[in-house]
Amino acid sequence: MERFSNMKQVDLVALFNEMTLDEKIGQLVQLTPDFFEQGGEITGPVKEWELDSEQLSRVGSILGTQKASQVYNIQKEYLEQSRLKIPLLFMADIIHGYETIFPIPLAMASSFDEAIIKEAARLSAHEGTNAGIHVTFSPNADYVKDARWGRVMETNGEDPILSAALTRAFIEGYQGTDLAKDKNSLAACVKHFIGYGAAQAGRDYNTVDISDIEMYQNYLPAFKAAIDAGVKLVMTSFNTIQGIPVSGNKRVIQKTLRQDLNFEGVLISDWASIAELVPHGVAKDGYESAELAFDAGVDIDMMSDSYLSHLNLIVNAENLDKLNESVLRVLNLKNALGLFEDPYRGLEKDSLDKKTIDGLRDSTRKIAERSIVLLKNDGILPLKNGQNVGLIGPKATSQDILGAWSWMGQNDKAISLADGLASKSINLSTLDFSENENITDEYIEKAKKLAKELDIVIIAVGEKSDESGEGSSLVNIELSRKQDRLIQEISKINAKTIVIVFSGRPLALSNINEEARAIIQAWFPGSEGGNALANILMGDANPQAKLPMSFPRSVGQLPNTYAQMSTGRPKKNDNKNEKYISQYLDELNTPLYPFGHGLSYSEFTLEHITLSKETMTRAEAITVGADLKNISHIKGSTVVQLYLQDVVAQVTRPMRELKKWSVETVNAKDEKEIEFIITEEDLAYVHSDLTQRADVGEFKLYLGFDSQSAMYIGSIHLTD
Ligand code: BGC
Repeated sequence: MERFSNMKQVDLVALFNEMTLDEKIGQLVQLTPDFFEQGGEITGPVKEWELDSEQLSRVGSILGTQKASQVYNIQKEYLEQSRLKIPLLFMADIIHGYETIFPIPLAMASSFDEAIIKEAARLSAHEGTNAGIHVTFSPNADYVKDARWGRVMETNGEDPILSAALTRAFIEGYQGTDLAKDKNSLAACVKHFIGYGAAQAGRDYNTVDISDIEMYQNYLPAFKAAIDAGVKLVMTSFNTIQGIPVSGNKRVIQKTLRQDLNFEGVLISDWASIAELVPHGVAKDGYESAELAFDAGVDIDMMSDSYLSHLNLIVNAENLDKLNESVLRVLNLKNALGLFEDPYRGLEKDSLDKKTIDGLRDSTRKIAERSIVLLKNDGILPLKNGQNVGLIGPKATSQDILGAWSWMGQNDKAISLADGLASKSINLSTLDFSENENITDEYIEKAKKLAKELDIVIIAVGEKSDESGEGSSLVNIELSRKQDRLIQEISKINAKTIVIVFSGRPLALSNINEEARAIIQAWFPGSEGGNALANILMGDANPQAKLPMSFPRSVGQLPNTYAQMSTGRPKKNDNKNEKYISQYLDELNTPLYPFGHGLSYSEFTLEHITLSKETMTRAEAITVGADLKNISHIKGSTVVQLYLQDVVAQVTRPMRELKKWSVETVNAKDEKEIEFIITEEDLAYVHSDLTQRADVGEFKLYLGFDSQSAMYIGSIHLTD
């Protein structure tokens, strides 16, 4: 590892040499601000942990402050008391915005667009750094295929290559090009390393047991992309890998992360995940948990007293180098952020808590428009000026549209759907729904009466923000019975119903799919959600987003992904009546809405599809070309997707995997040429010895607008 990056080498080396063992250990501890506030008075958990104020004066970082003035005051008081005056690092979960909230990451991933993610990350960094934050615990690069797990909302969805691209974009947006110079950039912490999304049965914090080949093929690519993009920190996950919780798992940290992925930055535990080695049953007590995590190579202990209370007894002449390496990584990060020159990182005493950012709300609205997915539309949308439209359902007037990771966002500053539609040229009749109420029989009766008199009824349903996110696993991912009933009853009275679904995860929407004439997946669309939805409903914005995660027909299909592996007894269209094949007796294998699906008000076709050649050597490339035509009268955008299948490989491979995509805009009745270039890298996969390489042979290509309907366009061959 480079000893000290950035300048100021001499000073830092001198500083490091002056540090006592306890001061070094302090740098490896992170606590919440309540340990430091109230004039240093010791409250709550500090007492439990028996920390004294001297120990606190050595702690290296803080997580979860809320305001610039708070950061300023804590830093000032800390520096006054600290012997070596090493500035504190302030970290926080800025996941999809700080106070101004962007759509949840799973929603933004629906844009399939790195530029969108980069813009959201850059603006979130700006707002977060205005509040004094230095590091964000984002992006979430977890690979997921189980919508029961509530944390799918903060991921980039089910495709490893798409997730890798979007993870990279988050990091470029947060970190910018020079953390020390650009005080509105944030250091990023990619999480959760590794395998967290594979929690068994979708239950958060549950056991994970994945094969190495699955880990290298699907779980690592987004982390690799983050590390290659220069991410400054990685966070360990709560779960086990090969039976050992990651925060005490030497093999996965030393071999996979440090050696294979070549990560040189700071490795931080997740919240108390070092202390949790005890309930995991791999450590007897705090001492043993600290010993395991330190030996495995976790640099910072987030929110436990394991390191603070025990590391001084664990460090000895033999492992001192290890401690020094960890401390150097933390000091390097502080230096990279320019904290030794300016511990307040641009905060000015007289203008704390006052800064605003031009264009921020506009950007959240535009990004929400790019994140909202039109799942179904039989022509009822867009709405027309002058129509008599009803708006009902628990989400009609709700401001609970920010999503679970918006702890600094304020619901009362969010634009509800009703508020968004209020400015449009329709005759809107809204049936108010007060928050936290259940749908009553009386409400349904009122809604039915309203529905009778109107041209169209919009029914806004879905989850509350805290029904997805951390600790929010579900066994039933359908709409609630009451919401279901509301939709059924209204559809009987008025055949023109549009359902808008707010959720942090794909829901199983089979029950309402027939009744609704149009379905819009709003996700949790953020502070400007209502305006964005109103624009989509009216056609002022043309939907173009695509699902980054399949919507199952039934929860019983989970976990699932479009990238189904080959099986010995595949289900094909022509073996409909066979029994002993890979299928369900009571449901189709396919999802209700596949990965990559999303409609537009425009209509696109792909014509004149060409392959530059059919055979390539390892040094060559093949170009796939096509004319993308917009055959409608409306300018619009779509995502063209290229999928591939390795027909014969050394291990089983997916029947389709996304390799390339392109977000394209085409004018009405116009067309444009698109091209994708396939190289050897696109044909490579993880072999059983865990190396990534391509085998000679045949590869089938599929091109289209979603993972299921993309059509076979020919085969290519790799030769030596
Ligand atoms: C979560 C992390 C988060 C951390 C700090 C944990 O409970 O798993 O994703 O960054 O808390 O708030």
